[in-house]
Amino acid sequence: MANCSFEGQSVTVRIQRFNPEVDKKPRLKEFVITLEPGTTILDALREIKNEQDGSLTYRRSCRHAICGSCAMNVNGKNMLACNQPLKDHLDRKGRITIRPLPYQPIIKDLVVDRSVFWGQYQRVKPWLIPPRDVPEKEFCMSPEEVEALKNAEKCIMCGACYASCQVIGLNKRYIGPHALLKAFQRILDPRDSAPGERLADVAGDDGVFRCHTIFNCIDACPKELNPTQAIETLRKLAQKRQAFDAQRRERQKSLINSAPIMSAERPGV
Ligand code: FES
Repeated sequence: MANCSFEGQSVTVRIQRFNPEVDKKPRLKEFVITLEPGTTILDALREIKNEQDGSLTYRRSCRHAICGSCAMNVNGKNMLACNQPLKDHLDRKGRITIRPLPYQPIIKDLVVDRSVFWGQYQRVKPWLIPPRDVPEKEFCMSPEEVEALKNAEKCIMCGACYASCQVIGLNKRYIGPHALLKAFQRILDPRDSAPGERLADVAGDDGVFRCHTIFNCIDACPKELNPTQAIETLRKLAQKRQAFDAQRRERQKSLINSAPIMSAERPGV
């Protein structure tokens, strides 16, 4: 809840601390800082690390909601620390509680091990697989085809959706909303030549039919993307996979039909 009344006053930042090499379990540690106008949650962490406790550990890089590295759990909700004003997350007593993203092993303090997250991303082959023949200059997608991608390319892989998904909490083999959104982007892209194979993969035991449609991923996404809708689209396409595959081959013929073409090395699928 927004609260502007603490500017210039002391506020309490409670941070979960845990060093698996020496601690038996995580604990909350309180730090007091003065709330300056414009302070973000990431600014507060940096001030605490620089001036109070150099051992505090967290990830950050761009500070502009681009790299996705500063995602963490603030008052029970996953978000980016760098684009959130601290004052918006203080309770009536001027306190905020920061924990690492859930459902992943803690490496130290607010840093989690994202190996499984990235493994699932790799699994869906996030790169474009072009057809053998490609135009010399460019593919010209229609505005409708671009619109159908639903801004999926804006995903910054921060993991906020993944760490809010209760299915991930139960089953780490589930591909996850982040990777399924990327699969959706590639499958809907008319330049991609492997939609059938991709659909077969995401329709497997650990794929789109595991989603419980709880919508947590939508609430958590700092880019206002909609992984749930993407997963729903993939479910429908998976059920008519062969027809969709044939439709794609026809569309690719028309994409390159009027342009000079060149042969491309097709990467391994
Ligand atoms: S530091 Fe890059 S998204 Fe926050």
